[in-house]
Amino acid sequence: MTGSSQEAGAGLIGAGRLGRALAWVHEAKLGRPPPVWSRRFEQGGVEPGLSARPLEQVLEGVVVISAISNAALYALSHRHKSLFGRFGGLFLLAGADAPDPDLNARAPHATFARIVPVLLPGQAQITTLALRPPADTPAWRQGCACLEALGTLTTVDCERAYSELMILTSPFAAVVRAAIARAITGYLQDRQADPDWLEMALDVASLSLAGTPGLLVHDQGDAGPIATPGGITESGLTALPGISGSLQSALSMMRTRADAPG
Ligand SMILES: NC(=O)c1ccc[n+]([C@@H]2O[C@H](COP(=O)([O-])OP(=O)(O)OC[C@H]3O[C@@H](n4cnc5c(N)ncnc54)[C@H](OP(=O)(O)O)[C@@H]3O)[C@@H](O)[C@H]2O)c1
Repeated sequence: MTGSSQEAGAGLIGAGRLGRALAWVHEAKLGRPPPVWSRRFEQGGVEPGLSARPLEQVLEGVVVISAISNAALYALSHRHKSLFGRFGGLFLLAGADAPDPDLNARAPHATFARIVPVLLPGQAQITTLALRPPADTPAWRQGCACLEALGTLTTVDCERAYSELMILTSPFAAVVRAAIARAITGYLQDRQADPDWLEMALDVASLSLAGTPGLLVHDQGDAGPIATPGGITESGLTALPGISGSLQSALSMMRTRADAPG
């Protein structure tokens, strides 16, 4: 397969939770399933809805999303030296662990870019944060076109910015969502509310949080722009220092974990 025949699509390595979700969005957005290789397919596993292909076919494309850990990709490059040695396209590395520096030596003609793909439940699109590779290659530009076809793309060229912002994508959002759900559940339980109200309450809260352009604004240090003085919102915002302090603690713990080896 050549770059022109593959157009904006990508091949996929890995069909775990992330790989399957990426394949689903790819098909929904581009109208065709991506070619997917996953380790278990080699034992004859067939998976409905996935276009399983041998690794060499996936690596015939220009853009390949690696939806396995970078350590697993490195091990794979060891087992398939000649395939990786020939590959001249772009690897979009979705593994959360840092790539092995020797991966470049294993695939000397390839371009590598780390990505954090964020999939919101039920939404057929991906919001991606990418660390731009040092060289602006045609394969990288094709990778950007592919990610933009799947959703929205933000790129940074500073590794430190990438590492810090990575935590603010889905991992931190998951913590915030869990905290909100827990607060709502506790609030209703304290009021001995009908248990059936919980689903409704979570839906109402989700609707009021979702899909608002400019949902997050820079903190101006006071509640002025977002609350009517003396209103319901303002009374809740008096708890803001405690809430934001707790969330900052959660962020610090996530940062420490991200820096820890293994
Ligand atoms: N889930 C997310 O939303 C998300 C988001 C961003 C980044 N990530 C990162 O993406 C990676 C995959 O996440 P996941 O949630 O999809 O994990 P998962 O559901 O546990 O799937 C793991 C995948 O890795 C493959 N794999 C494991 N060891 C391998 C090896 N030695 N050689 C080849 N393939 C191997 C598995 O292959 P088989 O099943 O075929 O054996 C499977 O496709 C992780 O590094 C994760 O941190 C995940």
